[in-house]
Amino acid sequence: MKHDAIASVVKRIGGNPWARRLTYAIRNRRVFDDLYQHDRMLADRVRLDAYRAAFAKYIKPGDVVVDLGTGTGVLAFLAARAGARVVHAIDHGPIIELAREVARDNGITNVVFHRCHSTSFELPKRADVIIHEQIGDSAYDERVIENIADLRKRVLKPGGRILPDKLAMFVEPVELKDGFDASFAWQQRIDGISFRALRARSATQPHSYWYRAFRPFPFGRFLGEPAPLVDIDLSKAVRGDLPRRLSSERTVVSPAGRFDGFCVYFNARFNGEVSFSSSPAGRPTNWGNALLRVEPREVGPGESIRLHLKAKDLADPESWHWTAD
Ligand SMILES: C[S@@+](CC[C@H](N)C(=O)[O-])C[C@H]1O[C@@H](n2cnc3c(N)ncnc32)[C@H](O)[C@@H]1O
Repeated sequence: MKHDAIASVVKRIGGNPWARRLTYAIRNRRVFDDLYQHDRMLADRVRLDAYRAAFAKYIKPGDVVVDLGTGTGVLAFLAARAGARVVHAIDHGPIIELAREVARDNGITNVVFHRCHSTSFELPKRADVIIHEQIGDSAYDERVIENIADLRKRVLKPGGRILPDKLAMFVEPVELKDGFDASFAWQQRIDGISFRALRARSATQPHSYWYRAFRPFPFGRFLGEPAPLVDIDLSKAVRGDLPRRLSSERTVVSPAGRFDGFCVYFNARFNGEVSFSSSPAGRPTNWGNALLRVEPREVGPGESIRLHLKAKDLADPESWHWTAD
């Protein structure tokens, strides 16, 4: 009884958008405090190759650049190498002290570090470019839209560049690779023993049971032709632009297969010319992919799979509810 009461208070506080934002900010700082995530991000060649190529094209000699969420400083250093006059590197976590050490160790003197949250960062003269990598596994979950909108309004020159400037989210029906079975426990029948009685417990399963994160994702194939479910232009978007109700329809392509759920990934573009993606069909990256679970079923070519997704906040996957038909 005591546990139930505590659980209900936590659930009520957790459901409050303001409390969720606060706990997000605290969690975000903690996640990037040590080197665990930075090991993976620095080793991700797909990501860094795209940023390097984009900076070579879109950072001009003499540019003033702002790096939102510098972490180990890697993007700030690449921007400096690409010709920026000065890079203002911002991070709200202690990791920025390590970035300072890396700069010192490499004799990089045109990166200025600011330990603060981006919303309290100020510049006396507006910048030419904002660079950022605030992309979560489900695209918008690192609060990229609101953080960029704030900096764009306060510190970027009119017509200034945002790199990357487009961020699309995909939620595609997939078949998992051989050997992976995402069936629910209540669908199982083992040696004639049915587990259907467990279906009654489905309503009490945690969100992570339905939104199952994989790294790497056991990808078999896409069942239809992928297309963005949402595509956000960071040079205009503001918080509140994310839709709360979405739907899509895919026609199953040959051959017949098993519909195991929807796979979530993103595509980030720089002025439409350079891009990278966390698609499970592409080169591996440090991002994970979630499977939005549904009861797996066999599907044939020409059949339709429809997704209906409701989200209190699309930037918060814990608020997502979906069905498939
Ligand atoms: C995904 S990491 C990227 C780090 C680095 N830019 C890179 O590409 O390797 C995001 C970083 O942004 C920082 N961060 C997140 N939100 C921030 C905000 N609003 N203001 C300042 N720093 C932020 C985190 O502490 C973290 O170090």
